[in-house]
Amino acid sequence: MASLLPSRPRVGLVGWRGMVGSVLMDRMRAEGDFAHIEPVFFSTSSAGGAVPASLHALAGGDGKLHDANDLSTLKSCDVVITAQGSDFTKAVYGPLRAAGWKGFWIDAAKTLRMNDDAVIVLDPVNMPVIRDALGRGVKDYIGGNCTVSCMLMGLGALFKADLVEWMTATTYQAASGGGAQHMRELLTQMGTLNAAVRPLLDDPASAILDIDRGIAATQRGLGAEETRNFMVPLAGSLIPWIDVDRGDGTSLEEWKGGAETNKILGRGPGFAGTEAIPVDSICVRVGAMRCHSQALSFKLKRDVPLADLEAMIREDNPWVRYVANTREATVQGLTPVAVTGTMDIAVGRLRKLALGPQYLGAFTIGDQLLWGAAEPLRRMLRILLQD
Ligand code: HSE
Repeated sequence: MASLLPSRPRVGLVGWRGMVGSVLMDRMRAEGDFAHIEPVFFSTSSAGGAVPASLHALAGGDGKLHDANDLSTLKSCDVVITAQGSDFTKAVYGPLRAAGWKGFWIDAAKTLRMNDDAVIVLDPVNMPVIRDALGRGVKDYIGGNCTVSCMLMGLGALFKADLVEWMTATTYQAASGGGAQHMRELLTQMGTLNAAVRPLLDDPASAILDIDRGIAATQRGLGAEETRNFMVPLAGSLIPWIDVDRGDGTSLEEWKGGAETNKILGRGPGFAGTEAIPVDSICVRVGAMRCHSQALSFKLKRDVPLADLEAMIREDNPWVRYVANTREATVQGLTPVAVTGTMDIAVGRLRKLALGPQYLGAFTIGDQLLWGAAEPLRRMLRILLQD
């Protein structure tokens, strides 16, 4: 294939200061990505200012913050990577293409994901789909929903081997999935709850049911200020609904689980001669910080010995960290606390279910800011750079 990019391409970076963007900058620095590009830093709010000195020193570029709404500067980029969010994509992507820009658009937002001419990128799982799209001249490469990406990084082996007849997931999604303000709100609620019962907690002779009553009263009494993002208390509770109500009994997050899983795998609508694999979920927000966990049940197309399934999962990619299905290994290694801030995708609780030998249970955890958001974007840039 002819080279897709000039040497040292101009790569526009938008939304690099936000939570996902900051994780992306960290990963690009750690992997030496800036050595191969001419970065162009954009800003929606501080155009005309300077790139922070520390970032400029490691990334290079002209040190200026360019206007993220200025189509002519965006047009000068060979690649634009944005973690700015869907409002930015909605406002800028269409006009930029309409102005004749033919560069590569790499995006973390959901806006373009399901477009026919966009590919959801998760290269350890769907490199053939990405390669096929590059060959066809596709220019839009979009990171998937975090829950879907983390699940496929952990259990993708079963799909690749075409073993999955159907899958259900119950998710345990971290506060970070909502955004930085949601993480702050969770911690604020935790502090309020603790403060409300502190004297009773400090008194070993106090009755636990008095503490419990105090917590419930405090949770129910939390004001609008402390529930602005989640709408209800999350600390000491959970919320079994994530994202928009689709009006058919499912949430948008649950719909994405099926639609995006199949699109990543190159199956279902848009992929001639394939059938979608039924995937259904109940998506639940819990009080974890940035790791999404999922309890999964599979019906396999045939009975495969558990040891073979374990081997396939272990060997699928270097980031799977297999956790033996024992109490000790699970509580030590299969928790959001054990996984947070790492590139590991922990997979454990693997066992055949009582339903029959073709039914498999598993539990997986991934950091939703890393494999769930930033990492597939920078890896797509590296794929473009290598071609
Ligand atoms: N929608 C996800 C969540 C985040 O709310 O956890 C990113 O896909």
